[in-house]
Amino acid sequence: MATDQKAEEAGAKAATDGKAADGKGGDTLSITDNRTGQSYEVEITDGTIRTMDLRQIKVDEDDFGLMGYDPAFTNTASCRSAITYIDGEAGVLEHRGIPIEQLCERSTYLEVAYLLIFGELPTKAQLERWVYDVTHHTFVHEDIKTLNEAFRHDAHPMGMLLSSVGALSTFYPTAKDTQDPEERYMAAIRLIAKMPTLAAFAYRHSMGYPYVYPDNELTYSENFLSMLFKMENSYQPDPRLAKALDILFILHADHEQNCSTNAVRSVGSSDVDPYSAVAAGVAALYGPLHGGANEAVLRMLRRIETTDNIPDFLEGVKNREEKLMGFGHRVYKNYDPRARIIKKHVDEVLEATGDNPLLDIATELEKRALDDDFFTERKLYPNVDFYSGLIYEALRIPTDMFTVIFAIPRTAGWIAQWLELKDDSEQKIARPRQIYTGERDRDYVAVDDRDGPEKITGPPAKRPKLIRRGA
Ligand code: CMC
Repeated sequence: MATDQKAEEAGAKAATDGKAADGKGGDTLSITDNRTGQSYEVEITDGTIRTMDLRQIKVDEDDFGLMGYDPAFTNTASCRSAITYIDGEAGVLEHRGIPIEQLCERSTYLEVAYLLIFGELPTKAQLERWVYDVTHHTFVHEDIKTLNEAFRHDAHPMGMLLSSVGALSTFYPTAKDTQDPEERYMAAIRLIAKMPTLAAFAYRHSMGYPYVYPDNELTYSENFLSMLFKMENSYQPDPRLAKALDILFILHADHEQNCSTNAVRSVGSSDVDPYSAVAAGVAALYGPLHGGANEAVLRMLRRIETTDNIPDFLEGVKNREEKLMGFGHRVYKNYDPRARIIKKHVDEVLEATGDNPLLDIATELEKRALDDDFFTERKLYPNVDFYSGLIYEALRIPTDMFTVIFAIPRTAGWIAQWLELKDDSEQKIARPRQIYTGERDRDYVAVDDRDGPEKITGPPAKRPKLIRRGA
């Protein structure tokens, strides 16, 4: 059935169902188009209308029909999902209905990954099998090392991770069969298992250190610390630090339709293999407004240098000269529950690793911002990234690696969301509409006949600020 026809039928059905038995409006929305004087009723389900129901609203036969305009999807639900629930006003986060606080207190990252992907907490046998399968797929093909060697010594590890995750699709070409349950299971296992190895390899390359292979005797987070820091056989990950890292992994495992998850779903909707879809998620996460924010927080705290400079810094934020990184969230208009949990663990980690003067700056910065109308009026509170960078730094993880570490646990969420997309019969290839604002019906003009300045004065004509590198 043509989509336009479907929309019209939905509208007509809603128009007849419009009034409930008590005479009040049912779960419908009445719309009067003041251009034509015509009225319509569209169904309201789960607090939403279907924007396709607007398409029946036309000024005449030739009209394409009304669309919704929502740049950055600030008020558009793109899917139905049963994975993660967020109440941004109340500061609530639940995975499959279980509060994040309980998961951090009682679960492990691998168990949470299972919960996200399969919808239920595993039985003892299921958990053992799951952990066994992940643990025994942590090795990567030796050619990944050759791929890494192609990068400059100072390549950002997130750029390297992006490329090696994409490359996995070439090592596992049968993953293209996205309907095969076994392929799906293996892709889930491999992505969760190999992401820490790829991340650690990127780090070791950037440090010029030899790669450390996975150790199947260690837990997921212990193994990651070992692959990062092991220099000789005696390396023993501190269990307190491994535990803190595992909690950070739980906190970052999923966050419903965030920028990178939306990227995974959008790219995955083309029916590409899951490794390529997840590579799109890694690319989205790289940005400083998303996963790159904790890196930006640390740079910001270093730049502030002492608590004395905080008032000047906050003035700069209010004058829009810069942003208070680690503050604000599209969904949370209250304290991010993840930030609350992380804050509790910062002290524990610093007890094991020694003080960090940046914590004093962060604490004072938060206090002053929360006392300031500029931030409270806009409901800007600390988000997950405000304190996570301090824990990573205490674990001796370099700033460039912060976003890479975010990508490790978010992989579970990306896979869970990708699987949900694949099984959703309402989904099809993601393809938004646009409002065309450009010109029409112009003729091509030969280069010699074009008007314009004789001399180029813009950026391409200027000397680069820095010497450009490479070819
Ligand atoms: N510092 C200063 N002002 C801010 C900030 C901030 N961090 N965040 C938002 N605002 C202001 C913004 O300028 C706007 O003011 P006005 O209404 O006067 O123009 C108002 O608050 C609303 O902000 P918005 O930009 O419309 O909000 P958004 O939902 O589009 O953006 C955000 C959300 C997270 C991108 C943004 O808050 C931000 O850039 N924060 C800093 C980066 C950051 O910490 N990102 C991590 C997000 S949590 C981890 C993740 O999910 O990846």
